[in-house]
Amino acid sequence: MNIPDIIIAIDGYSSTGKSSFARKAAARFGFLYLDSGALYRGVTLFAREEMLINRLNKVNPALEKALENLDLHFSADGRLFMGPRCIEQEIRSLEVSSQVSPIAAVPYVRHWVDDKLHEFGRRGRIVMDGRDIGTAVFPNAELKIFMTASEEVRARRRYDELCAKGEKPLLEEVVKNLRERDYIDSHRETAPLRRADDAFVLDNSEMGFDEELAWIQGVIQGKFSIL
Ligand code: CDP
Repeated sequence: MNIPDIIIAIDGYSSTGKSSFARKAAARFGFLYLDSGALYRGVTLFAREEMLINRLNKVNPALEKALENLDLHFSADGRLFMGPRCIEQEIRSLEVSSQVSPIAAVPYVRHWVDDKLHEFGRRGRIVMDGRDIGTAVFPNAELKIFMTASEEVRARRRYDELCAKGEKPLLEEVVKNLRERDYIDSHRETAPLRRADDAFVLDNSEMGFDEELAWIQGVIQGKFSIL
């Protein structure tokens, strides 16, 4: 399929499989994939290591200045690095997951991440996933998708993912984390999670990757009149 140089913005609830879907769609269309959530997770790991967030998720205002020296970047194969160190594994832990939404609600953190996303977005032909890509980061993205799935399916996916990495989470903990993040993400003041009016909704509760890819191809063909 010959796709124009567009930005595809994918937003949605926690663990709806946005990143797997976005990565596969990008590979299929020859686009670059960018995971905005990884940057929020990277900032969270940094804040934890610098002790700028406490157990009650109170963020120390010194984080704003400290961000000036934070170097987060993606390798060519899409892994996140903090300076020379690959942090791809650490940012997916339940500890980081439990503190990322409070960090992502801080306006100067969003500003810092947005600057990076805009830089990446200048080149077009990208698929970017997150919570506010189609509403706030790239409101003019040519194609917006809003992903959702039942809570049960989402919790099971995240649980399996953590188990596969050798963690031993409790299913109740995983459910609690999803609920808390969805609540904070949808109710924060700056760029809350919501479906953009012009977003296509994808509920993948009962879909596999092949069906998802067939779905997006159909949407692209229809929207851009590609035969
Ligand atoms: O993979 P999952 O859907 O569980 O989350 P993620 O995409 O890795 O994002 C982690 C967290 O970062 C979210 O729960 C949000 O709090 C925050 N986030 C955000 O606020 N805005 C974005 N564009 C992306 C992520």
